[in-house]
Amino acid sequence: MELAGKSVLVTGASSGIGKAIAIAFAQKHARVLVHYGKNKSGGRETLDRVEKFSSGRLYQADLMDRDQIRALFEEVKQTDQTIDVLVNNAGDARAGDIQDDQVWEYEYKNIFLSAMHVTEEFLVLPSSGLRKIINVTSIYGNLHTGDPEYLQYSAFKAALANVTATLNRTTAPNVIVNAVAPGYTETPAWVGASKESMETHARATLTGRFVRAEEVAHAVIFIAENDALVGQVLTLDGGTTLKGMP
Ligand SMILES: NC(=O)c1ccc[n+]([C@@H]2O[C@H](COP(=O)([O-])OP(=O)(O)OC[C@H]3O[C@@H](n4cnc5c(N)ncnc54)[C@H](OP(=O)(O)O)[C@@H]3O)[C@@H](O)[C@H]2O)c1
Repeated sequence: MELAGKSVLVTGASSGIGKAIAIAFAQKHARVLVHYGKNKSGGRETLDRVEKFSSGRLYQADLMDRDQIRALFEEVKQTDQTIDVLVNNAGDARAGDIQDDQVWEYEYKNIFLSAMHVTEEFLVLPSSGLRKIINVTSIYGNLHTGDPEYLQYSAFKAALANVTATLNRTTAPNVIVNAVAPGYTETPAWVGASKESMETHARATLTGRFVRAEEVAHAVIFIAENDALVGQVLTLDGGTTLKGMP
């Protein structure tokens, strides 16, 4: 897929990985629909960066609210008409074990159902030609590298990875779905972590450092541009899976 002139929606683009993805698409001269939830100033900052290279627009919605997703897509139909590439990036990792019903409920909606609802709206947009979905999962969503301290998050990222493959059976060749599974990636999501925890996670790689958000964004661009890749989950973890989880 040639990205110049295409329209790309990046969810959770007000921060971290989503912000880097939005800027990377703009550098390819795609128009970027910058979605944010609560962090309006973060969304604005991303849009400013996007507009240095191409054009864009800010969209707000709490993706755990079905009506707000509907409203976002109504706005897209009025202003941008359609979307060529959807990046389901938004997500919030909450710790929880098997007994934490509130976390099961929260992560189901935040990590999984939100992405399904956004995907559902994306699929029925008017289109002519190839379109793509790229989901942001996690190494925790890969089969043998889930984190028991993030049981729900791991489970619903795994569900997202499963849908990434299965959906293609009904959407291809018009819509192709793939995913990236980042390992420990330096973003504001880690702001509350202790120095010791940061060092432990950096050591739990073969590269000795966190993955950079720009490296994940680079992989998303590769997936968007390469039309032979279908239903794949591309893991970028600096070798954590090979080394063994900390
Ligand atoms: N950082 C890592 O180590 C890592 C590793 C593997 C996978 N990931 C995944 O990568 C993605 C991005 O993570 P990040 O590290 O960049 O985190 P981040 O900096 O905390 O950014 C998270 C983004 O998701 C948005 N978001 C979360 N819940 C939302 C909701 N209910 N409605 C709307 N927007 C919502 C936030 O929007 P607002 O702030 O505007 O509300 C924000 O833009 C997530 O899916 C995460 O699970 C991260």
